[in-house]
Amino acid sequence: MPARALPDFVTADVDLAGRTTLALPGRAAYLAAIRSCRQLAQLAGWQATRRFVLGGGSNVVLSGDFDGLLLQMAIAGRELAGEDAEAWYVRAGAGENWHQLVLWTLANGWPGLENLALIPGTVGAAPIQNIGAYGLELGDRLQSLEVFDMDRGRPLQLDRPACRLAYRDSVFKQQGWHLDARRVVTSVTFRLPKNWRPLTGYADLAAELERRQLARPDARQIADAVIAVRSRKLPDPAVVPNAGSFFQNPVVSAEIGERLRRQCPDLPCHVQPDGRLKIAAGWLIEQAGWKGRDLGRVGMYEKQALVLVNRGSALGSEVMALAQAVQDAVRRRFAVELTPEPVVL
Ligand code: EPU
Repeated sequence: MPARALPDFVTADVDLAGRTTLALPGRAAYLAAIRSCRQLAQLAGWQATRRFVLGGGSNVVLSGDFDGLLLQMAIAGRELAGEDAEAWYVRAGAGENWHQLVLWTLANGWPGLENLALIPGTVGAAPIQNIGAYGLELGDRLQSLEVFDMDRGRPLQLDRPACRLAYRDSVFKQQGWHLDARRVVTSVTFRLPKNWRPLTGYADLAAELERRQLARPDARQIADAVIAVRSRKLPDPAVVPNAGSFFQNPVVSAEIGERLRRQCPDLPCHVQPDGRLKIAAGWLIEQAGWKGRDLGRVGMYEKQALVLVNRGSALGSEVMALAQAVQDAVRRRFAVELTPEPVVL
């Protein structure tokens, strides 16, 4: 991108320290602060430059400098877009903070997102990996996505089936759109059903509600319980830099699942509708000896082995070395492959 033609919302040579929750060092050749679809249209012509969308930076490992154009999503706005007998439809801009959106819907009396409280990141990032926690996934509440198609230079809408959501997966990851920003989420519309029922089956959440003696919790009380559980087990990125769960929970064939269960009868796992087995990666990492253990300036968190933490001033290469060491240890012990959740940039 020639410097003389830079639109005023694009900055050259930007320090990325503080822009990702793992707090890794790096610079971007160009960074555009995106507040509207119009700005995306202006940038659609810049084919030659590598592009990547940055939300809250909570799912990104910076391996070093980025030589392309970062689209920092800052599209704001939250509104009740519609209502019918069955549901409230809430729309939020891609740049909105996820947790603030959850709190805002609850304050307005529209329950449904409470189990996803305190997940770091932005609204626009949420559908890319179909965020989930405590028995609920974004896909359970998604109505549609508004997307900007950078190839054609125009907006388009994706309804829920078109998003092809699965466990920590979507059409964006399946098509690689999350890597080259060919299609960029600009806003998300949620469907929050009026026949709301509490989802309290997840063990950690159920235990917390029992401790609080809440047999019939409302949505706000569930959010409070989720916030308490998360705060106890997961490090606050502002204090201990991290990217949430660093690996996906592996899903293995019924056959491999059977072998693992014979090997370890107490293996925490869930049988999937197709018969495969989803195994707790945190447990595998703990059993492989990596819970609370460091390599260089990074380590696997002492209270939840699935979270990789930056103990201070680490480089992206140290994160990758630790990820590799943990994958190797789990492979040696269980013959199971761990797949990292964050995108390596
Ligand atoms: N476990 C261990 N040792 C550990 C960690 C976990 O033995 O160090 C065991 C636990 O005892 C439990 C099982 O593993 O039996 C599952 O652990 P947990 O309930 O903490 O959930 P998780 O599978 O580790 C997932 C999501 C989280 C989400 C929680 C709660 C993935 C990859 N992670 O973690 O998402 O908050 O469930 O629903 O699916 C995130 O992606 O950033 C994230 C935090």
